[in-house]
Amino acid sequence: MQVIEAIEARRSIRKFKDKPVSQEQLTKLLEAARLAPSAMNAQPWRFKIVNDKADIEWLSGSPTRGQKWVAGASAVIICCADLTRFLEDAKAAVRFLRDNAVLPPEMQAGVENFVQNAENAPEEVLRGAAGMNCAIALTQMMLRAVELGLGTCWIGMYDEEALRQRFALPENMAVTTLLAVGHPDESPASRPRKELREIILA
Ligand SMILES: Cc1cc2nc3c(=O)[nH]c(=O)nc-3n(C[C@H](O)[C@H](O)[C@H](O)COP(=O)(O)O)c2cc1C
Repeated sequence: MQVIEAIEARRSIRKFKDKPVSQEQLTKLLEAARLAPSAMNAQPWRFKIVNDKADIEWLSGSPTRGQKWVAGASAVIICCADLTRFLEDAKAAVRFLRDNAVLPPEMQAGVENFVQNAENAPEEVLRGAAGMNCAIALTQMMLRAVELGLGTCWIGMYDEEALRQRFALPENMAVTTLLAVGHPDESPASRPRKELREIILA
C-alpha cells in the first residue's frame, strides 16, 4: 500500500467487530509510533495499552465524556507525554549537539535559549509542545492501522484525572490523547475537507 492510499482510505471508525486486535498488531502500531519524528528527538510519548473489557467499558462512560461507542473498541491506547523526560532529553540533545560541534556556532545560543525558555514555561506550554510530538506518533499509528486493516478513532475528549487514577499514571505523565483501535464494522464515506484554496494563504 502506498502512503497516499492509506491517507485517503483512513476514516475515524466508531463501530468495531467483536474481535480482538492481536498483540502482534498492537506491536506493529506501536512500532510505527516509535519511529515518529520529535523535537530534539526527545520522543516524549509513552503508551498505556488498555485491552481489558471492563476497563474499555469504563472508558466509554464519563472518562470520555460519555462516548458510548468507545465500548466497542478492542483496545484503547492512552498516549501520554513524559514531561520530565521531555525536557531532560531535549537538554541532553542540545548538550550533544554542542559537545560534538554539530550545530553551527551561530545557532547554538538560539537552540539553548529555546530549551531554556521551555524549561521556564508554564506546564501548559510544555504539554502543548509534547502533545504536538505525540500527535505525530498517533498519526503514524492511524496510517499503519489502515495498512493492517484495522480501524482507529482519535479521542480528544477525556477526563485526565480519572484516567490517571484508574491506570495509576504518574503525575509527570500528561495524557495527550486516546486512540480507539479495532476491526472496523463500518465503512464511512470520506468526511468533508476544505479545498486547497481555502487552506493556502496568499
Ligand atoms: C485532536 C482530535 C480530537 C478528536 N476527538 C474526537 C473525540 O473525542 N471523539 C470522536 O468521536 N472523534 C474525535 N476525533 C475525530 C474527528 O472527529 C475526525 O477526525 C473528523 O471528524 C474527520 O473525520 P475522519 O477522521 O473520518 O476523516 C478527533 C480528532 C482529532 C484529530
